[in-house]
Amino acid sequence: MSKKQTILVTGGAGFVGSWLVERLIKQLNVSVIIVDDLTTGTLDNLPTKFKNRWKFIKCDINNYREISAIMLAYRFDYVFHYAAVVGVQRTLDNPSNVLSDIDGLKNILDLSKNTGVKRVFYSSSSEVYGEPVEMPQNEKTTPLNSRLPYAVVKNLGEVMLRTYQTEYDLNYTIFRFFNTYGPRQSTDFVISRFIRQAQAGEAVTIYGDGKQTRTFCFIEDNIQATFSAYKGNLFVNDVVNIGNNVQTSVAELAEIIIKQTKSTSKIKFLPALPDGDMQRRQPDVKNMIKLMKREFTPLQKGLKKTMISFPRN
Ligand SMILES: NC(=O)c1ccc[n+]([C@@H]2O[C@H](COP(=O)([O-])OP(=O)(O)OC[C@H]3O[C@@H](n4cnc5c(N)ncnc54)[C@H](O)[C@@H]3O)[C@@H](O)[C@H]2O)c1
Repeated sequence: MSKKQTILVTGGAGFVGSWLVERLIKQLNVSVIIVDDLTTGTLDNLPTKFKNRWKFIKCDINNYREISAIMLAYRFDYVFHYAAVVGVQRTLDNPSNVLSDIDGLKNILDLSKNTGVKRVFYSSSSEVYGEPVEMPQNEKTTPLNSRLPYAVVKNLGEVMLRTYQTEYDLNYTIFRFFNTYGPRQSTDFVISRFIRQAQAGEAVTIYGDGKQTRTFCFIEDNIQATFSAYKGNLFVNDVVNIGNNVQTSVAELAEIIIKQTKSTSKIKFLPALPDGDMQRRQPDVKNMIKLMKREFTPLQKGLKKTMISFPRN
C-alpha cells in the first residue's frame, strides 16, 4: 500500500477548493486538512463523504500565527493554495485586502520550505494576462499585461513561487485558472448570477453591451486537469492554463441561460464596469488537454448540471 499523504487545501470551503477536496479524498491513503476563514466560503461546501479522510480548521492564512500552528503540526506533503479575495467587484472595492494576500502566500511558502512540502500548487488567474495582447493566451509566449491589484498580486505570487524554487528548491505548479463555473459557485459570478436571476424571473443584468466574450470552463474539467497534474507528477516547476477555449459573448450566455431555465426574464444592460471587465480572454489549451486526456464539457451540458444545484427562490 502507498505511503499516506497529508495534504493542505487553503480556501477549501470555497468553490474550486471544495471540488478539489472532494476529488482528493476519493483516494484511499490521504488525509486532507481544509483551512478557510469563511469570508466567501461556507461550511455547506465541505464534503459529506469519507469523513475520516478530512478535517476542517477555521484559519486566516494571512495571519502567520494561525497558519504556522497548523503547518508545523501536520507537516504536509502537498499544499494547494487556493485561498484569496476573489470577484471582480469585491477585489476592486477592497484593494488593500487583496494586497494582504501577499502575506498569506509568503506564510505558505516560508512554512512549506521549512517543513518539507514536496510541491505547492497555486491558483493564479487568467487576469495576469491583463488587457489582451494576443489570442490565444499562451503560458510561455504571451506577455503579462496586468494592472489591477488582484491581477498584479497573482503575478507577484507566480514570481514568489519561482523565487522560492530557485533559492530554496521548493517545487511548485502554477495553475492559471480562466473563468470556471459549476455547482457551489457564489452568486456574484456571471453564470451563477444569471442562473439565479433567470430562475427568480428577475431581469438578467449585463454590464456593458454584452458583446464582450468569455470562455467558460466547467468545474469538473478544472478538477480533472489539476488532479492529473498532482497525481501524474506533471508540470513540476511550470505554469499551465486551466480553462476552456470556446468563446461565448456575455449576451449569448444570458440568452442560453434564460432558454435553459425556461424563464420569462428579460435582459437588462447596465453601464459598463469602469475597470476590470476585459473584452476578450482565451487560453491556449494544448497543455490543459494533455492533462485532461478527454474533451471539454460543452457549455450547455455544464450549465444543466449547474442549474440542478440551484434551488429556485
Ligand atoms: N473561479 C474562477 O473562475 C477563478 C478564476 C481565476 C482564479 N481563481 C482563483 O481560484 C481560487 C479559488 O477561487 P474560487 O472561485 O473557488 O473562490 P471562492 O471565494 O469560492 O474561494 C476562495 C476561498 O478562500 C477563502 N479565503 C479567502 N481569504 C482567506 C484567508 N485569508 N484565509 C483563509 N481562507 C481564505 C474564502 O473564504 C473562500 O472559501 C482563488 O485563488 C481565485 O483567485 C478562480
